[in-house]
Amino acid sequence: MPFLCPLFLAIQCRMNYLLTIFIESLFFVSLKLFTVESLSGISGISCKSNLSPACWSQAARIDVDCFLFDEEDVMSWVSIDYDKCTNCCICVLRCERCFTQKKDTVTAQADENCCNLCGHCVSLCPTGAIVHHKMDMGNFPGIDEPITYKTEQFIQFIRERRSHRHFTKKNIPRNLLEQLIDAVRYAPTGSNDQNVEIMIVENPERIRRLSELTVDYFDRVGAAYAEQLERIHKGDEEIPQNLSLMEKFVRYRERMLLARGKGLDAIFYNAPAVIIFHSTIYGTTAKDNCVIASTTMGLLARTMGLETTYIGLLEIAARSYQPLIEELSLPKGNRVFSVLIAGYPKLRYLRTVDRRPIKTRWE
Ligand SMILES: Cc1cc2nc3c(=O)[nH]c(=O)nc-3n(C[C@H](O)[C@H](O)[C@H](O)COP(=O)(O)O)c2cc1C
Ligand code: SF4
Ligand code: SF4
Repeated sequence: MPFLCPLFLAIQCRMNYLLTIFIESLFFVSLKLFTVESLSGISGISCKSNLSPACWSQAARIDVDCFLFDEEDVMSWVSIDYDKCTNCCICVLRCERCFTQKKDTVTAQADENCCNLCGHCVSLCPTGAIVHHKMDMGNFPGIDEPITYKTEQFIQFIRERRSHRHFTKKNIPRNLLEQLIDAVRYAPTGSNDQNVEIMIVENPERIRRLSELTVDYFDRVGAAYAEQLERIHKGDEEIPQNLSLMEKFVRYRERMLLARGKGLDAIFYNAPAVIIFHSTIYGTTAKDNCVIASTTMGLLARTMGLETTYIGLLEIAARSYQPLIEELSLPKGNRVFSVLIAGYPKLRYLRTVDRRPIKTRWE
């Protein structure tokens, strides 16, 4: 009967799914001619001999998913290799929307309605029985012994991080930047949206232009706030709620114009790389995602001898200043949410620094 298998599966591709299950069950159970070996001969996945008719059809469906459909046509994003599955139900526990336990069989029906590509099912399955068709199955390296860190050392690593604003002229090798970018994809994003994008600016002319435009923005806004503050101090205007922000912008402006007058880069401190984290504004946690990504990169960079500083000033200016927005020319609908400068540090901090305790409420 092996010649029947491709024929059967070809028919199956074109048929309504429920009808297919029904016919498969009848076919397999009544004739009992379709052997385990004949299934595995086509697919490399064989079914357990004690599986129910429902499981037989599930196995056949996996067979189709894996081998006959184009990627776009895959019915379930996830398949289970029933040769390996022990019915431990860990996948059901973790993801009960995409996995179901029916009698003694676990089935998977994952699509965009239930699956956000978190990969947890593949990561958790003790026997490696789960295949996710929308993910790179070659990029799930095993975890033998989870790496552990000494708490005190980790705290020291956090405390030793400083904002660096003096860099040597040495450029960051491209392979290190690529490694940093690659690592950031493993940082978490809200709903696993994975929509953080990165722009690396190394061209000194381009960096200078972005710096100039940022200063221009603070020059304008700071000047307007300075005028408004004057009116407030004269009593001509009521004290607004954002008074301290206005005062801050006025100070920024003074500082930036002073630096610009001396020919200094008031925004990026002549760093060899400006790293801009941007994403669609329509994400639910767009800023969080970008800040987590930049923080992840900043900490990892330290392991390479690099240091960084967040540059909120560019992010603030890029929210509304049209000439800067145009210069950045991000994809439509994207906005800057976090910025780092990076480079090899000129200064070495010899002590960690004091910070105010976090105001904490215990309930
Ligand atoms: C969200 C954010 C935005 C920042 N923006 C700037 C900036 O535009 N320019 C700058 O020189 N430093 C910037 N910093 C660095 C802070 O001034 C710095 O983190 C703070 O003074 C504490 O110093 P530390 O980072 O060495 O602990 C920013 C920091 C954060 C967290
Ligand atoms: S976690 Fe793996 S072995 Fe356990 S039920 Fe799910 S697919 Fe089967
Ligand atoms: S990748 Fe995540 S959401 Fe998708 S099926 Fe697996 S556990 Fe469920």
